Amino acid sequence: MTHSPAVSFHKSTMNETGTLIVLTDETLGLGAAAQGLGIADLLQKAAATADYKGKSLAVLDLLAPANLAFDRLVVVGLGKADELVEGDWSRLGGVILGALRKGEKATLHAERPDGTAISGDQLADIGLGAVLRAYSFDRYKSKGKNGKDGDNGKAAKAPVTLDIVAAESGKAKKAWVARSAIAEGAILARELVNEPANVLGPVEFAEKAAALEALGVTIETLTEKQMKKLGMRALLGVAQGSVRPPRLVAMHWNGAKSKGKPVAFVGKGVVFDTGGISIKPAGGMEDMKGDMGGAAAVVGLMHALAARKSKANVVGIIGLVENMPDGNAQRPGDIVAAASGVTIEIINTDAEGRLVLADALWYAQKTYEPKVIVDLATLTGAIMVALGTDYAGMFATDDVLADALSKAGEATGEKVWRMPLGPAYDKMIESKFADIKNTGGRYGGSITAAQFLKRFVDDGVAWAHLDIAGTAMGSPQTEINRSWASGWGVRILDRLVADNYEG
Ligand code: BES
Ligand code: MN
Ligand code: ZN
Repeated sequence: MTHSPAVSFHKSTMNETGTLIVLTDETLGLGAAAQGLGIADLLQKAAATADYKGKSLAVLDLLAPANLAFDRLVVVGLGKADELVEGDWSRLGGVILGALRKGEKATLHAERPDGTAISGDQLADIGLGAVLRAYSFDRYKSKGKNGKDGDNGKAAKAPVTLDIVAAESGKAKKAWVARSAIAEGAILARELVNEPANVLGPVEFAEKAAALEALGVTIETLTEKQMKKLGMRALLGVAQGSVRPPRLVAMHWNGAKSKGKPVAFVGKGVVFDTGGISIKPAGGMEDMKGDMGGAAAVVGLMHALAARKSKANVVGIIGLVENMPDGNAQRPGDIVAAASGVTIEIINTDAEGRLVLADALWYAQKTYEPKVIVDLATLTGAIMVALGTDYAGMFATDDVLADALSKAGEATGEKVWRMPLGPAYDKMIESKFADIKNTGGRYGGSITAAQFLKRFVDDGVAWAHLDIAGTAMGSPQTEINRSWASGWGVRILDRLVADNYEG
């Protein structure tokens, strides 16, 4: 399904067949190896004809170049090479992969025209971008992309081979071990989000999470009965309208030498959100198969951390339910007691994510006593109104955590924008009959949702909530993502862990 390209790193060119890729800049310069192939004149001529200026990520494609053993020459621009930022290297990898046809064998001379060596991390990022770009979700397409009947997409799956030739190939190989683990995690998250809800109910999703056991992750799965015993009536109230029972999965990775308290990641896993009795309109409802994007990111993250043997203690907790209307479904006006004891008046059964998270947050704290919690949820349409699809909304009780997340977001391109919390918003979720109600009216919809969650976070815990409704799915296509689901969250959180909680 992933058609992952075979990426490898080399000190020198293996064989001069297939496609050659070289990098240039706005001076149309070339690195030493590319110059050695005698293509400088060809590039000048072709660039002039095609009005090619070496702008950042611009591609110049030359077929059957004379005097060259390769069948094809692809030139990719770096723009102004001294203005390159970290995220440009994965974007570059994405653009390179995008220029290649299925099954194509390509050699990239990864060198900068200005002579500065491309570092091992940057080279690994090129590979990461290529792998992420190559992903497409076509499991249910019975025809190949080439239009041939009945090949079940096999032709489309023929992977690209990308040999990256660079001075720092040794360091790149080392960096690639971790980078490919992160790519796998992001693609796993995309797979879970893209998969339709008839295939992936709460039980099936829990089984996918449990498969991380093979990587050394400790798995604990709670059934409906166990959750009843714990009093998780907020989560169970959402699930009660579905014939498919809920699950809560805790994934524990103990990579640190010490037995220190873990960092916890909590994900909303609504496998399908009809809205329940407060049912959603039909238009676009199919997108609600992705309402488990938070849980998918947590599973993808745990995969990445375990596969790269992160030296951190981390726990991932996901609440898995389906929000359906039926004779047993929860009603507006119902009052439920969450496991923490807080009572909640249900105003709108479509504000279900916060109910699931209320009990998942409680369980995380009671079981693991984390010092830091980050939750992810496709929580509100309002966050898309506020921020669009480029930034996720971030709400945080701790400035250090918020800054660390912002930094990790800028570095990986999974960006967060901080939004406010405050007692004024608590007023908006006061209930006539219970401790709080599950909606706060039209204004500040993402903030009142976050303020609701905060009621389930203990004092002294550094907590951040990421509202990923705009970024997890249906966001614009990028150099490194052509799939509906983006896998948003795996890369920023992996970076957060790597930079703050390891060793
Ligand atoms: N899952 C939705 C939020 C959502 C909307 C995610 C669009 C992705 C794309 C959430 O459960 C929801 O329905 N929220 C309501 C809250 C309202 C009833 C207070 C919303 O945003 O309208
Ligand atoms: Mn909803
Ligand atoms: Zn929802």
